[in-house]
Amino acid sequence: MQGGRPVKRSPTEGANPLRIVPLAAESLGVRSMATWVETPDVRILIDPGAALAPLRQGLSPHQQEILALESAWRKIRDRALKAEVLIITHYHYDHLNPDQVDLFQGKLLWLKDPTRTNRSQRMRARAFLDRLKNVKATWTWADGHTFHIGHTHIHFSEPTPHGPGGRLGTVIQVAIESRGRSFVYTSDIQGPFRDDQLAFILAHAPQCVYLDGPPLYLLGQHYSTTIFEKVLENLQEILATVDTVILDHHPLRVANWRSYFHRLTGTSRMVSAAEFLGHLERLLEANRRALYSDAVPM
Ligand SMILES: [Fe+2]
Ligand SMILES: [Fe+2]
Repeated sequence: MQGGRPVKRSPTEGANPLRIVPLAAESLGVRSMATWVETPDVRILIDPGAALAPLRQGLSPHQQEILALESAWRKIRDRALKAEVLIITHYHYDHLNPDQVDLFQGKLLWLKDPTRTNRSQRMRARAFLDRLKNVKATWTWADGHTFHIGHTHIHFSEPTPHGPGGRLGTVIQVAIESRGRSFVYTSDIQGPFRDDQLAFILAHAPQCVYLDGPPLYLLGQHYSTTIFEKVLENLQEILATVDTVILDHHPLRVANWRSYFHRLTGTSRMVSAAEFLGHLERLLEANRRALYSDAVPM
């Protein structure tokens, strides 16, 4: 394997070839894409962070959001302790909490290369890595690399823009394959609006994709409708071959997110993280104003 340590595991342990558990997300009440992935070879936690929008609809987080964040953190911390490998796809604080580097004690980390993103992410990465030196962790840059642990293969894309315009720097996408099953996690692409993003997803022939779509609340403002049309086209292509698309994060910051995708076919196989888990959605940020007026029982 490249850049990692082999993990000793009984070959009979873990019957499920690829288990995917979203831990926190907009549909679960917080900003996050934290996801647990387990194969018979390795336990992986992707992007162990969660946050709240400091200001939305002119309002600061509601008490229900604060409670949801506390609950998300408990789940993320619990899984982080059990994980053998942690992945950081970029350095935004809804994907990483630099105040809790103890999570990484004794872990193997595959990190976004901070030299291949924008200045803001680079500075956040530097602060995080300074703190990481205080705990016993092993890390390596992941961009464009493939790692192998037993019969599990973990592929990382080259850096790709965090949304149109590149203002927010770059992220890396992740594909995890185990015993003929495949899962792709796009991180914060706000798309897919580029050919390289779509190509990475399709190249790994996944049964399940966890996709970050467009920030619908910025459509026609910071996010152009022309780019949104391209996203719909690409998403249709994904839905044609993928069994389950988990769509969450940026798009689920509006309550009527589904209506934006009504022209697509196969959307019955497109679910939020909450729906994927069999839970009811709790779109707290999208309903912040209503929460303050007690109009939405959640
Ligand atoms: Fe981000
Ligand atoms: Fe994010």
